[in-house]
Amino acid sequence: MLVFRDISTLQNHLNNLKSKEKIIGFIPTMGALHNGHLSLVNKSVSQNDFPVVFFLINPTQFNNVDDLKTYPSDIDKDLELLRSISDKIIVFNPESDELYAGDIKPDQFNFNELDRYMEGEFRGNHFAGVATVVSKLFSLIKADYAYFGEKDFQQLQIITNWVKTADISTAVVPCPIVREANGLAMSSRNELLSKKTRKEAGFIYNTLKYCVTNGLQKAAIYSYIVHAFGKHPTFTLHYALCVNEDTLKEVYEVNTKKKQRIFVATTVEGVRLIDNIALK
Ligand code: PAJ
Repeated sequence: MLVFRDISTLQNHLNNLKSKEKIIGFIPTMGALHNGHLSLVNKSVSQNDFPVVFFLINPTQFNNVDDLKTYPSDIDKDLELLRSISDKIIVFNPESDELYAGDIKPDQFNFNELDRYMEGEFRGNHFAGVATVVSKLFSLIKADYAYFGEKDFQQLQIITNWVKTADISTAVVPCPIVREANGLAMSSRNELLSKKTRKEAGFIYNTLKYCVTNGLQKAAIYSYIVHAFGKHPTFTLHYALCVNEDTLKEVYEVNTKKKQRIFVATTVEGVRLIDNIALK
């Protein structure tokens, strides 16, 4: 498995592969890899000749210094996990200065209002920071396919739309949410939770699932979620919203024939958790 830390040697290597018409996949991550990330990697291994796995804790997408400081990282473990999947994987793990060339700040983007709702309301320039690093990497790697998880559904939609408007030839491939045994959506941040809270946090997905399997209407969904969080007082509920998947605007009413999802965000033990479920 090849590991690159600088842009020029990575680009030379990729140019060589592209001249041989090899299909290149791209999986951007911030490391501390778990099975959610690995599902994207596995999909990419099966659909491309050479998947490029990127990891860097991207400084421009954090609006909270503590969140950036405590974000988990274990590069050796990440490399070991990737090695066990396929020797075709190419790792790109630069220092942030290599990408940002000393100018560590987010660029400006027009996301057609998709960044206004949900996480956008709570996390300032977060999506501009995400798109800054992703756009640098898209133009550097010029992959055929790029893999993004539905766990961060708003991020996935923002990137998908940005790719369309920026006329980029990389196709965005959405990947389903991978969960822990108790239903908690896998996240690198789950490592920061106490054992007890991590176990308890399974209620988040169970609550969403209950709303879907029982065909609840919007008002009933909101009150059920508020009621469920009320039973877990250490979890602060930031929002619970039924949303149109394309516009990310709150829906007027639930319609399981339309593309709609329930989204929740909560903080517990200082850790922000997000989850979502399709309303069908
Ligand atoms: P990170 O949180 O490391 O996630 C990397 C990718 O893995 C994202 O596309 C995310 O949606 C996906 N992912 C994370 N947990 C998942 C799960 N439980 N199931 C399925 N997919 C999951 O998202 C980022 O990093 C960054 O914002 C990044 C795009 C790399 C830009 O810095």
